[in-house]
Amino acid sequence: MAILITGGAGYIGSHVAINLLQDNEVVIVDNLSNSDTSIIEKIQKITNKPVKFYKADIRDKNKLKEILETNNIETILHCAALKSVEESIEKPLEYYDNNIGGIITLLQVMQEVGVKNFIFSSSATVYSESLEPVNEESKIGNSSNPYAVTKVMTEEILKDLARVNPDLNITILRYFNPIGAHESGLLGDNPKFVPTNLLPLVAKAASGEIDSLNVFGDDYPTRDGTAIRDYIHIMDLSDGHILAINNMNGFKIYNFGTGTGSTVLEVIKEFEKANNVKVPYKIVGRRKGDFPVSVCDATKAQEELGWKAKKTLTQMCKDTWNFEKSKQN
Ligand code: NAD
Ligand code: WQD
Repeated sequence: MAILITGGAGYIGSHVAINLLQDNEVVIVDNLSNSDTSIIEKIQKITNKPVKFYKADIRDKNKLKEILETNNIETILHCAALKSVEESIEKPLEYYDNNIGGIITLLQVMQEVGVKNFIFSSSATVYSESLEPVNEESKIGNSSNPYAVTKVMTEEILKDLARVNPDLNITILRYFNPIGAHESGLLGDNPKFVPTNLLPLVAKAASGEIDSLNVFGDDYPTRDGTAIRDYIHIMDLSDGHILAINNMNGFKIYNFGTGTGSTVLEVIKEFEKANNVKVPYKIVGRRKGDFPVSVCDATKAQEELGWKAKKTLTQMCKDTWNFEKSKQN
């Protein structure tokens, strides 16, 4: 079948494209605001399969309609979004325009063209603060930054749409903290903006590109005082998408995480051990808006999709470093 990936030149979309290309035609629409065309070439190089690419913005209704009609799209995987928490606080209108304006246009066109299957890249960020693992029924409604609000709002839009369109299959995937890279070292997390996520910064501290990593807070109620996250390998996440796409049936929500949390210091130690490098760091104050703990209960995806994350934190650290080194060559 032909699958459209919006934002398919980005970190998550490009890795999912690799897996999807095994059995499907893949069409990518991306405005390249946080990526470039070299990613499309790399996807084709890794898979030895052609990818149809359109440089277009999902808010361009006419273009989008033309793309959907000419390619006989059966399923849409919607990854396109702006995703920096910090930037969203500085530029809220840009985030609402891109992320909310984008989904509304996309869904309107989808209905006009008659596409029935829709998968949305949501985030752990929708959940309210919790020290315990959260499942799909846990409280949502994080409003600590505009980025998180766009994810919560989009989920509400999709719920409303599903209620009056029982013929649609809509799956919401709530990713926890995707890290790591494709084993080739060709693809990884390579934002155009200065990275704020932990692993790209750990890699930069290890390579000497930055003097040291700031560890945000060591006074959290956790085993070593640093915050806990549920890190998941990008290729496990990618596998999960294939199962989600192959098991669409009405309105569904799944957490995609490992179910196990790691502290910031544990990640640093694991990265040093896995790659035999030093990660210089210093403890600084907490980052505003950070939760002490974000870990998922991944039972539902296992029971309903037969999906379980397999790759270890060691592998995630190795692949992150492999990608960082290959970028420098
Ligand atoms: P990314 O920035 O690497 O990829 C997003 C892609 O979308 C980019 O290539 C960008 O150019 C494109 N894009 C943005 N706005 C667009 C528009 N209006 N029209 C066309 N293309 C547009 O981000 P990612 O990490 O791959 O994230 C993909 C999705 O997953 C996003 O929706 C993000 O919010 C969500 N998500 C990411 C994470 C994470 O940690 N990476 C975690 C949870 C959820
Ligand atoms: C992880 C941990 C930091 C940087 C964000 C978004 C979330 C989702 C994933 C898209 C935290 C600590 C980080 C640093 C540090 N994205 N840290 N020093 O904040 O869990 O989630 O990305 O949906 O929406 O909010 O990820 O990688 O920024 O941070 O100590 O320089 O590392 O405090 O505990 P986060 P992260």
